[in-house]
Amino acid sequence: MNCISLIDGKTNVFGIIGNPVEHSFSPVLQNTIACELGHDNIYVPFCVKEKQEIQAAINGAYSLGIMGMNITIPYKKEVMEFLCETDILAEQIGAVNTLKRTDKGYKGYNTDIIGLRKSLEVRNIIVEGKTVIITGAGGAANSAAILAANGKAKKIYIVNRTVDNAAKLAERVSDFYDIEVNAMGYNEIMSITNPDILIQTTSVGMGLTKGKSPVEDTGIFKKIEAVLDIIYTPWETRFLSDAKKAGCTVINGFDMLVYQGIASYEIWNDIVIGKQQTEKIRDILVECYTQGSK
Ligand code: ATR
Repeated sequence: MNCISLIDGKTNVFGIIGNPVEHSFSPVLQNTIACELGHDNIYVPFCVKEKQEIQAAINGAYSLGIMGMNITIPYKKEVMEFLCETDILAEQIGAVNTLKRTDKGYKGYNTDIIGLRKSLEVRNIIVEGKTVIITGAGGAANSAAILAANGKAKKIYIVNRTVDNAAKLAERVSDFYDIEVNAMGYNEIMSITNPDILIQTTSVGMGLTKGKSPVEDTGIFKKIEAVLDIIYTPWETRFLSDAKKAGCTVINGFDMLVYQGIASYEIWNDIVIGKQQTEKIRDILVECYTQGSK
C-alpha cells in the first residue's frame, strides 16, 4: 500500500511517538491518505520507552526535519512542555495528539476532539442545545467534555465510577466555559432528565471486559437519540448493542480514529480534504481494518 519505492531525500517524514506503538493503526491510516492524495509523505512509528526520553525525542525529531507527529499513550500530556505553542482547544483539554513543525519548534494540537465532532456531524448529530452524558473521566472524557462545552451543549453530565474524578473534570470544564456540568456515579444515571447524546469513553467493553458495559441500566437508552463508544475492538460493544436495541443511532470509535488522523494530516499539510475524498479514505480504512482484524 505504501509508495515505498518512491521514498528519497525529498520525502516528508511524519511519525507517531508512544509506548507501545507496534499495534498502532496510524501508520496504515496516514500512509493510505498520502497514497490516495499522491503526496510524497511517509509516516513511521517511534517507540519512546521512558518518559525521561520525551524531550530528547522531540528535539531529535526536530533536528531530523520531521514535519509532524502524532503523540499517543502515555505521552499526550508530558509532551506539552516541550512545544513552542499549543492550540487553545488542546490547552483546554490538557493533552495534545498532533505536533506540527514551525520555525520555532513544534506546535501542539488535539485532533481527537475534531475526530469526535466529525463522527457526530457526519450523522447530523448536533451538540448545540443538547444534553450530553459522558461516561468516564479520563483523557478521552476530557476531549468529549470540551467538545460538548465548546459545541454549546445545554448541559453536560459526567458519569464515572470514581465520582471525585468526574467532579475534577467538571471543574476543569467550568474553568473555561459557562455551562452547567454535573458529576455523578452510575447509580444516578437514570435521574438525568431528557438526555440526547451519550459518549462512552471508558475502556469497559474491550479486552478483558469484552461483553461488559459500563451502563448497566439500559433504560437510559430509551431516552437518548445517539450514542458513541470510543471503542472499535470489538466493532460493536455490549454498550452499543444495548443502545441499538433501544433504537439509538450508534457510532463506534473507528470514525473518530479516522477523522482525527485526517485532521492531523490536514494540519501538517495545510490542506482541506474534501467530503468525498474523506469518505473514500474512510471506506478504504474500514475495509483494511475489518479485513485485518478477522
Ligand atoms: P483514557 O485516557 O483512555 O480515557 P484513562 O485515563 O485510564 O483512559 O480513563 C479510564 C476511564 O475509564 C476512567 O474514568 C475510569 O474510571 P475511574 O476514574 O473510576 O478509574 C474508567 N474505567 C476504567 N475501568 C472501569 C470499569 N471497570 N468500570 C467503570 N469505569 C472504568
